[in-house]
Amino acid sequence: MNMLDKYCFSCMRQLPEAGAVCPVCGCDNSTAHNSVGYLNRCLLNGRYVTGKSLGHGGFGITYKGIDVNMERVVAIKEFFPSGEVSRSATGEVNLIFSEEENKKSFDKGMERALKEARICAQMERLNNVVNVMDVFRANGTVYIVMEYVEGITLAKYVQQHGGKLPFEDCLELLLPIIRALGIIHKQHVIHRDISPENIMVRSSSNECVLLDFGAAKNVSESDGNSHSTSLLRMGYSPVEQYSSTAVQDNRTDEYALCATMYFALTGTRPTDAAQRMYEDTMKKPSELGSDIPADAEAALLKGMSIRAADRFPDMNRLEAALTGRTVRSESNTDIEKMISELNRGSQPTGSVSAHSESQSGGSAPNGGKSGGSRGLIIAIIAVIVVILGAGAYMMMQKNRPEPEVTEPPAVVTEASTEESAAETTVEPVAEVTEAPAEEPTE
Ligand SMILES: Nc1ncnc2c1ncn2[C@@H]1O[C@H](COP(=O)(O)OP(=O)(O)O)[C@@H](O)[C@H]1O
Ligand SMILES: [Mg+2]
Repeated sequence: MNMLDKYCFSCMRQLPEAGAVCPVCGCDNSTAHNSVGYLNRCLLNGRYVTGKSLGHGGFGITYKGIDVNMERVVAIKEFFPSGEVSRSATGEVNLIFSEEENKKSFDKGMERALKEARICAQMERLNNVVNVMDVFRANGTVYIVMEYVEGITLAKYVQQHGGKLPFEDCLELLLPIIRALGIIHKQHVIHRDISPENIMVRSSSNECVLLDFGAAKNVSESDGNSHSTSLLRMGYSPVEQYSSTAVQDNRTDEYALCATMYFALTGTRPTDAAQRMYEDTMKKPSELGSDIPADAEAALLKGMSIRAADRFPDMNRLEAALTGRTVRSESNTDIEKMISELNRGSQPTGSVSAHSESQSGGSAPNGGKSGGSRGLIIAIIAVIVVILGAGAYMMMQKNRPEPEVTEPPAVVTEASTEESAAETTVEPVAEVTEAPAEEPTE
């Protein structure tokens, strides 16, 4: 059978024959296809077959696919900025530029897409961040191949669970994302597009996974090839994202994360930050029927302060305030990270040590898996030392009302260059909560 016909368009499982109705998911493969302008069954880079589209944002189209070498289902994100490019209805895979001048900004955007893949790859050891497996150029654009997360977006999850979630459930779902963001920020990266659409809930474990680093920024690099990806997500973007010059830092993600939690608690998209600037009519979650305790609500609303200076300085403080625990999550995170790093026999990336600054740019390469038992002994000693250290630290901190900020937030300043002007060409994503997933037309 032809490689392209071998797999079900919808679930990517092998078919008994070309064009068959899939015995697993019931998709009629004789007629299933994506809308005009999308790729249909297509072999990319000699090893990936694309299937149905999963979503289409301002930045690109994401397809379900299969890595035919590994026989593994994947998600493939195609850089396809809406408004700039299109495809003919005749099935031609190469892109068409609506205007020649778009080509220049498209090229910059492709660089940015490559950067998205690299930033994601930097985070590969984080459980709650989607795994990037490959990146390549084809059809005149860039493709990012990721693990396929079997599950639904947080937006859908909330919808399927009665439209709003109890506070304890929200916390359980989103604490791992808060912690992952804490580590990401220490690597001088900010995500800048946290929302219920960019977090998936795995169906096997209910674990949340952060997606879509298309707007992420590595603040330790001077970003000469930015693209217009600082898109606004109404309800989730803080005011600093509406400005071409305002500082964006880890508190930008903090706002969006708290706004995401607000949505999960209430089923309501928070009032847009720009609107709140004029008149803050946003209701508290408790006023919308959430069972959130008063202290946690105060913490959530502090995280959603209009002015960044009024928010928590980092994700650890946010976690502490939301959970009512003392600020020991940093030590916990570091312990977990150290253990996982040491167990993997690799060098921790700079930022994971409580006392070391992260190296700019790339992560340490994966070390070999040798030295397992030595690594384990070191790990045990390290854990004991850190626990004792953390205990002593907590004793010392006990009576201090507000711990000092130990490191400055990762900062992005949009310099007023031509590129940054382009970068902040905001796309007011009007109704962003539901980017309708394309179902294959059958
Ligand atoms: N790795 C993945 N596994 C499963 N579904 C995914 C994956 N990546 C993206 N999706 C789905 O595709 C949608 C769009 O992907 P995303 O990376 O957010 O791109 P964009 O928002 O730029 O279009 C997501 O909301 C999600 O439903
Ligand atoms: Mg997205």
